[in-house]
Amino acid sequence: MKEENIYPIFDRMLSREDKEALLGQRGVMLWLTGLSGSGKSTIAIALERELHQRGLLCRILDGDNIRSGINNNLGFSAEDRVENIRRIAEIGKLFVDTGIITIAAFISPSNELRQMATRIIGEGDFLEIYVSTPLEECEKRDVKGLYAKARRGEIRNFTGISAPFEAPEHPVLSLDTSRLSLEESVNALLELVLPAVGKR
Ligand code: PPS
Repeated sequence: MKEENIYPIFDRMLSREDKEALLGQRGVMLWLTGLSGSGKSTIAIALERELHQRGLLCRILDGDNIRSGINNNLGFSAEDRVENIRRIAEIGKLFVDTGIITIAAFISPSNELRQMATRIIGEGDFLEIYVSTPLEECEKRDVKGLYAKARRGEIRNFTGISAPFEAPEHPVLSLDTSRLSLEESVNALLELVLPAVGKR
């Protein structure tokens, strides 16, 4: 006996719009680029809290959850940085397509790398934010002691010291954390993000 199909819509996968409607928000990628120690992760964490408090679902992608996991076979050669950013963009796209506000905090040191990420994620879903804290300030902070090691030649290809960093040409926002407080940076981001995700 032929079984009756009681799930007539099973041939259609739920769409991004279905998920965005469920969440009551739009998915978007906030791509934070900037030197090591510029404040990318600090800003991402504070922004996520603010958005969460407003009932918005976010996902942070940063070195702590990407380079220590799925990308733990990658280093900092030019080729490995391409693969790092490619995988991050592909993963980020899945979150954005699920309607989630995705905050990526990676050095992503060249226009070419960020353009690749934009192509993978889609221009309409990609907001490039430049955490423009100057090298001198990042080096002064030297939170992880890596700049000192890089200066001593103990780390090769260190961005800003022995590997290049190309500032974005047209970021939607620049945040210099040597001049702005964390609250000011987060407020500037909220102004940008809330309308982009359909809130306000
Ligand atoms: S990239 O360029 O986008 O692939 O880099 P990213 O994945 O953001 O990783 C940057 C963090 O790795 C640490 N680290 C280095 N950074 C730059 N160059 C070299 N050679 C290097 N070696 C280790 C560094 O702590 C970066 O941390 P953040 O969080 O950016 O300060």
